[in-house]
Amino acid sequence: MSVILAIESSCDETAAALISNGKVLNNVIASQPIHHPYGGVVPELASREHQKNIVSVVEEALQEARISKQEINAIAFTQGPGLLGSLMVGASFAKGMSLALGVPLLAINHMEAHVMAHFIPEHKPEFPFLCLTVSGGHTEIILVKDFLVMEKVGETLDDAVGEAFDKGAKMLGLPYPGGPLIDLYAKQGNPVFRFSYAQVPNLNFSFSGIKTALLYFLREKGEDFIKNNLADICASLQTHLIKSLMNKLMLAAEQFNCRTIAIAGGVSANSGLRAELQRLGKEKNWEIFIPDFQYCTDNAAMIGIAGYYKYKQQAWASLSVSPAARMPIPFSQ
Ligand code: KG4
Ligand code: ZN
Repeated sequence: MSVILAIESSCDETAAALISNGKVLNNVIASQPIHHPYGGVVPELASREHQKNIVSVVEEALQEARISKQEINAIAFTQGPGLLGSLMVGASFAKGMSLALGVPLLAINHMEAHVMAHFIPEHKPEFPFLCLTVSGGHTEIILVKDFLVMEKVGETLDDAVGEAFDKGAKMLGLPYPGGPLIDLYAKQGNPVFRFSYAQVPNLNFSFSGIKTALLYFLREKGEDFIKNNLADICASLQTHLIKSLMNKLMLAAEQFNCRTIAIAGGVSANSGLRAELQRLGKEKNWEIFIPDFQYCTDNAAMIGIAGYYKYKQQAWASLSVSPAARMPIPFSQ
């Protein structure tokens, strides 16, 4: 019997979840609208908001699941990667609770947890599988060999794809985070504008070129052009980004002779990406895994499920464990 309280605070969501014997009981998230006027996450404000929210978010998760603090067997928290000040709030809170309740701590890698979100539903992928992990700060292809045994086989050399969505949206005058809005407008448009693709070796990506290409393209056309063609520009940018991702994912599938393919991370909530992966899955005879929307963007359920597999291994963290802004998954290239 294991009851795990999970806490996520790596960026701008304060989240808590309870996991009982590997089953997610709930997934509570407090977002931080305070950043919206700034067009991005302000780290100092993020850590203060985490401090304000963390007690009530954890209380809500416990009450909703009807679990008392005394029933908790372990506390899982995000050790990194992320904003250091934000991570420190979650880590300190988790350590305090672990000490007070006399239960062990589980330190979780946020990017591994995005992948581990695939072990929340009943139907789980078999090993080995490839997971394209796409978020605001990361774009990686991960070869998943076993629970929490992962190897990074490709990554972006510059911007993350989520950043390309968000920065592209900003150029179009859309508020942060722009990814979901690009997704929304893209549905109403057609990908009529073409941008050239970055030539990147191996299974790596580059998304800084598309940002510059879009900037020059828009500068040439003027403001009215954006107003009159917003849906088509969004559809064009989104199509470009999805194609860049899928080209490398196809290459990875060939290289590793792998037909079990997953996506994870905030950008995996993108409806165009989900549809394209479904289409490719049929064409290539892949078994594909796409997380539920609530487990794509940052959440504590994924931290808890990663914690559950660490719990089974009794891979406890010591009270002196430090949060880490950078926490890479081992690279194999
Ligand atoms: O995983 P996540 O919630 O946080 C990080 O760990 O970074 O990912 C956030 C990123 C942001 O860049 C956001 O714009 C993007 O995910 N995102 C989307 C969509 N929903 C979230 N991008 C495109 N389409 C979406 N529907
Ligand atoms: Zn994330």
